[in-house]
Amino acid sequence: MTIETERLRDRVAADMIRARERTTLLTEAVDDGDLIRQHSALMSPLVWDLAHVGSQEELWLVRDVGGREPVRPDIDELYDAFKHTRADRPALPLLSPAEARRYVAQVRDKALDVLEAARLEGRRLTVDGFAFGMIVQHEQQHDETMLATHQLRVGAPVLTAPPPPAVSSPVTGEVLVPGGPFDMGTDTEAWALDNERPAHRIDVPAYYIDRAAVTNAQYAAFIAAGGYDDPRWWSPAGWDHRQAAGLTAPLHWRRDGDGWVATSFGRTAPIVAGEPVVHVCYHEAEAYAAWAGKRLPTEAEWEKAARYDPATGRSRRFPWGDETPDNRHANLGQQHLRPAAAGAFPDGASPLGVHQLIGDVWEWTSTDFAGYPGFAPFPYREYSEVFFGPDYKTLRGGSFGTDRSAIRGTFRNWDYPIRRQIFSGFRLARDASPDAARDA
Ligand SMILES: [Fe+2]
Repeated sequence: MTIETERLRDRVAADMIRARERTTLLTEAVDDGDLIRQHSALMSPLVWDLAHVGSQEELWLVRDVGGREPVRPDIDELYDAFKHTRADRPALPLLSPAEARRYVAQVRDKALDVLEAARLEGRRLTVDGFAFGMIVQHEQQHDETMLATHQLRVGAPVLTAPPPPAVSSPVTGEVLVPGGPFDMGTDTEAWALDNERPAHRIDVPAYYIDRAAVTNAQYAAFIAAGGYDDPRWWSPAGWDHRQAAGLTAPLHWRRDGDGWVATSFGRTAPIVAGEPVVHVCYHEAEAYAAWAGKRLPTEAEWEKAARYDPATGRSRRFPWGDETPDNRHANLGQQHLRPAAAGAFPDGASPLGVHQLIGDVWEWTSTDFAGYPGFAPFPYREYSEVFFGPDYKTLRGGSFGTDRSAIRGTFRNWDYPIRRQIFSGFRLARDASPDAARDA
């Protein structure tokens, strides 16, 4: 066994343990009643997420990679996300909180055992620990979903975290991204999922992109200007939704005198002017962009801004380079319970000076979720392919609730354009005039 393989094993085990610590924190912060309750029809009961995390780990690591006997074959169907909608899950005969905790611990013991013995080569599922990476990302994604459930929960606050770093000089304005070829997607990122593959060269014409995400103060100006009452700024589908859902402000905002307060994990406080707006749907983002005289970036424009190194023409793993994120680079991993103002992570900026593409808020792009040229489903069609099409928009970059193991410059998230219980915001782009493009 090589030192490389040993190192990979250690890193995988550390990532699995970190994910489980977070799952434990999120599920022990509330009592059993809150674990079983459905806090919103959009979300599963927390206890479903908990046992579902264990169930996926059992299917992929214990049974498939390890070839071991099933732990609980009788519950496979209950925790199959494709068999039951979130709204239907509370009525299922789910494991109790105590049973679910016992089950995930039992599966984890076996999965770590499998990791000890697994050859992390040969079969595509195990090369570079892919299946373990997939399961780590899956757990962290459910942790972010559970964090969103916490945000929808009503009751006394149970989560705490220090505020994000303060900013002395705010980042504003836009940068010109030169036109030309750019390598989008990846063939080399070991834990990249099927929808991030393969790498492919595309030509992206020159464009401007904002150095920072749209802030609460900017968004409040859109509201004050009557943006929610003027169909000119909204797409037909967006205006229909705005009318039907009665949208008047981001989710969790409430008027307070002349200003706005927002409720965040059970605490209500005035909105912070310079922080990115969060909990807006695609339609709201699109309407704001039209009002501001700009547009949302395409997914390719977002990724080029995040990865393109103009000095070498190479695509990086992250805006700052190839290093895995730490707390100098980005607001990730629930270290803070809200997005940070632009300028809080200068070490995370791109070579062109675009800030905080990674972390803080998921950023809506104008692109429908689809496979890249040469896409091949792996390890199963339900991972991504069944979601391809015009129903979903892609979001990029991760939020303050996304773990570092579940984000990279190529990572793609997708959701319905009406969703806003997720930690979603946006930044703006615009076309570059032919003159600007030539001078670039
Ligand atoms: Fe899942």
